[in-house]
Amino acid sequence: MTASRTQIVAGNWKMNLDRTAARDLAAAVAARVGEAGTAELVLCPPAVYVDTVGAALAAVSSPIGLGAQTMHDKASGAFTGEVAPPMLVDLGCRYVILGHSERRTLFGETDAIVNAKTKSALSVGLTPIVCVGETLEEREANRTAEVVTTQVKGSLAGLSPAELEKVVIAYEPVWAIGTGKVATPQQAQEVHALIRGLLASIGSPEVASKVRIQYGGSVKPDNAVDLASQPDIDGALVGGASLKADDFLGIAKAFGA
Ligand code: PGA
Repeated sequence: MTASRTQIVAGNWKMNLDRTAARDLAAAVAARVGEAGTAELVLCPPAVYVDTVGAALAAVSSPIGLGAQTMHDKASGAFTGEVAPPMLVDLGCRYVILGHSERRTLFGETDAIVNAKTKSALSVGLTPIVCVGETLEEREANRTAEVVTTQVKGSLAGLSPAELEKVVIAYEPVWAIGTGKVATPQQAQEVHALIRGLLASIGSPEVASKVRIQYGGSVKPDNAVDLASQPDIDGALVGGASLKADDFLGIAKAFGA
């Protein structure tokens, strides 16, 4: 955590909850937003509940950001079942998670696709949360740096320094997602430092110093404090623990302290 970067903690609700539960969870988090201290909070409900959650947040004039979990890169057209970036803006979204490992492995998203979506998000004023991370097999083969470098360069290709500055990156080792196996703070810090170095080379050291890099993968209130103490970890992308207000706020507190 570096004082100059506002810490950002986002809840990725994935394909969970129903409409009532989504609204209630958003209201519960909003009522206790003060516990997050200086950290910025973002909630990313399933697409069909974005409107409901947005309304729950707006009803209490909450500063919590609204986000989506994915989107198409085109603004409109014949793409059955897809959601367009301007539609998310229309619903009050300010963020969109892109290239989550589940999108990459289960839905075939490549770095080129993530890159097109990232550019598209920026063009409509959405802040992309671009996810990268290695599998267990890749880590064990000592390929973490190579894999993460390829993903970062590919996903952010062609962005101007001004655009790069606006992106949030989430480093999520695939082996830590939903498994209860969190990376050690040192393992995470090492990759975060690598990513910041890459941002310095593709943008500039100044740009790199501004970009927020979240850690994701089995973040819980009890491991968040040590993660938050690392110099290049600027927040968390939280799956399972974001479905409980107590746990999500416990994590937010660690980053906003
Ligand atoms: P997890 O998921 O916190 O349940 O490991 C994180 C993510 O997939 O973003």
